[in-house]
Amino acid sequence: MAQEKKFKRTLVTTALPYANGPVHIGHLAGVYIPADIYTRYLRLRGEDVILVGGSDEHGVPITIKAQKEGVTPQDIVDRYHKLIKESMEGLGISFDVYSRTTSAIHRRTASDFFTTLYNKGEFIEKTSQQYYDEEADQWLADRYIVGTCPHCGNERAYGDQCESCGTSLNATDLIDPHSAITGNVPVLKETKHWYMPLDKWEPKLREWILEGHKEWRANVYGQCKSWLEGGLQPRAVTRDLNWGIPVPIEGAEGKVLYVWFDAPIGYISNTQELLPDSWERYWKDPESRIIHFIGKDNIVFHCLIFPAMLMAHGGYQLPDNVPANEFLNLEGEKISTSRNWAVWLHEYLADFPGKQDVLRYVLTANAPEAKDNDFTWRDFQARNNNELVAILGNFINRALVLTHKYFGGKVPPRHELADQETTALAEFKDVKETLGRNIETFHFREALKDAMSLARIGNKYLADTEPWKLAKTDMARVETILHVALQIAANLAIAFEPFLPFSAARLRAMLGMDSVNWDKLGDIDILPVGHTIEQPELLFEKIPDEDIDRQMQRLERIKQENIVNNFTPKAVAQPCTFDDFLKLDIRVGTVTACEKVKKADKLLQLTIDDGLKGRTIVSGIAKYYAPEDLVGRQVCFIANFPPRKLKGVESQGMVLSAEDADGRLVVIGPHGAVRPGVQVK
Ligand code: 2FM
Ligand code: ZN
Repeated sequence: MAQEKKFKRTLVTTALPYANGPVHIGHLAGVYIPADIYTRYLRLRGEDVILVGGSDEHGVPITIKAQKEGVTPQDIVDRYHKLIKESMEGLGISFDVYSRTTSAIHRRTASDFFTTLYNKGEFIEKTSQQYYDEEADQWLADRYIVGTCPHCGNERAYGDQCESCGTSLNATDLIDPHSAITGNVPVLKETKHWYMPLDKWEPKLREWILEGHKEWRANVYGQCKSWLEGGLQPRAVTRDLNWGIPVPIEGAEGKVLYVWFDAPIGYISNTQELLPDSWERYWKDPESRIIHFIGKDNIVFHCLIFPAMLMAHGGYQLPDNVPANEFLNLEGEKISTSRNWAVWLHEYLADFPGKQDVLRYVLTANAPEAKDNDFTWRDFQARNNNELVAILGNFINRALVLTHKYFGGKVPPRHELADQETTALAEFKDVKETLGRNIETFHFREALKDAMSLARIGNKYLADTEPWKLAKTDMARVETILHVALQIAANLAIAFEPFLPFSAARLRAMLGMDSVNWDKLGDIDILPVGHTIEQPELLFEKIPDEDIDRQMQRLERIKQENIVNNFTPKAVAQPCTFDDFLKLDIRVGTVTACEKVKKADKLLQLTIDDGLKGRTIVSGIAKYYAPEDLVGRQVCFIANFPPRKLKGVESQGMVLSAEDADGRLVVIGPHGAVRPGVQVK
């Protein structure tokens, strides 16, 4: 199995995020946090490893955003590259290099890569019909074209993919296509493009994945298998677009490399930028391994298309593993950049300063490794308060406070170990084994549970031995207990370093540990006797309800805004005649009294002067009006509905109201005062 092969060095790559928006918790849980845990772990083991990443700055989503804002694509990518880079640093994602695909080195590398394939005759040239917007005088690549998905009927499917059912599409598959720029129906025109003949690489890909990588995650292996079984087709690797890397051959003016052709080459150019003289060792030496951390929507590109490009080029290693994650939802709904349904990293860092590790912890504990998962703010609070504060923080604090109380902050000596120590330490050894193995096999949720169980062992050890009760009677025993507790604390500083690097660093500082090394995990001689421990400070603090309520209110506001922004009036109903209209006797009346209907949250009882003998109407508007708001107002009502009882009150008609996009009801009345009882015509 590939997992057992020994490697000299490891290249870890992270999917390049599009620089058309900030990074959100879905990106973090799916890609950046697991990649960072993995890399930090290998570093702790003293292995040769690099973590490379960068922003994906080409492609249609960026040009569309620029057009919407009336700025250049370069303005957009400059803005978001900076924001993404800074916020990832803020969360402690320990990139060795974080670059961008508009860099000169990337442009050259991607262009050369294309030229090599072109010169080797690895492309096929094809002329095909593609959509063109005549008014905008522009080709409509990928997301510039919108229409109905032939698979699921989603009316907002894009020319390259339907986000509703996930199917990858060709623009010509769409039903009722229209231009995303002008809304016009586009015309089909002939254009020439270069294609990767994926069918040619299919047998090699089959063998490499289906035979050679059975250890890959089931979701990754399964997706590859289903693509391969469907049969691979040639894929265009160029586009008619004015933003991107120009196609470096004659006769290709106005064409650029397809963003999915140049983006994965970004992993190579980023490595070149980091190590101009030795980058090839990571890419070309069979004793190196390459691990791509990505989300599930990127599997086909990383497991089939990019490997086919690498094989066609020759000389490159293929990835050893592609631990793709499923998706993270937010409060039960799909995260969406365009609908602002996300927790943005830069906003989190501003709202929760110093709490980077809480987010890292929660997103790892909930990582969507085998299935989609949900992030909720209540779970975030509970995990912080009940796990980080109550278990890890509590143990560390107790051990350090007691050391200061009884031993002036010096590590006490250890005497003979009792059963309590031997049991705790044996449990410790078992966990250490599985912890490392879980990280190496990309089971980060389990690995975090393992690390947490080390903290639980420590917590339980102190709770069981109760050194504070022995201080008057058996100081030698207290010495041993705190000696062991401090060694456990030092172990936790090692075990949590990949997951919670900020807290691990603070813990190391408090314990006066100048280095950490994974091999020391399980050792109970890390801190020498007499070694000075700093004054303890709390590693974690409880998160109060107010902080969570604020986040929930923000999401509620966004939900309302989305409802309003996405409002489209219903299609007009079937035609009706004036006689049909006259059947409804609509009149104006004045509200003379109004009260809540007992035992009915939604209902108001209105007394209406209708110019006749008056009438009572019950209306479901209590959520939107206080009774006193309506008294004195004129309203329109249907006078000839048969009376009916609502919660024991007879309602003699129906008050008319308009239902706004967010479901709010607004009562309808005349704009000027009229006599009660007049008809609406
Ligand atoms: O899906 C995305 O967000 C792409 N920008 C990922 C690119 S990964 C790599 F190939 F660069
Ligand atoms: Zn669809």
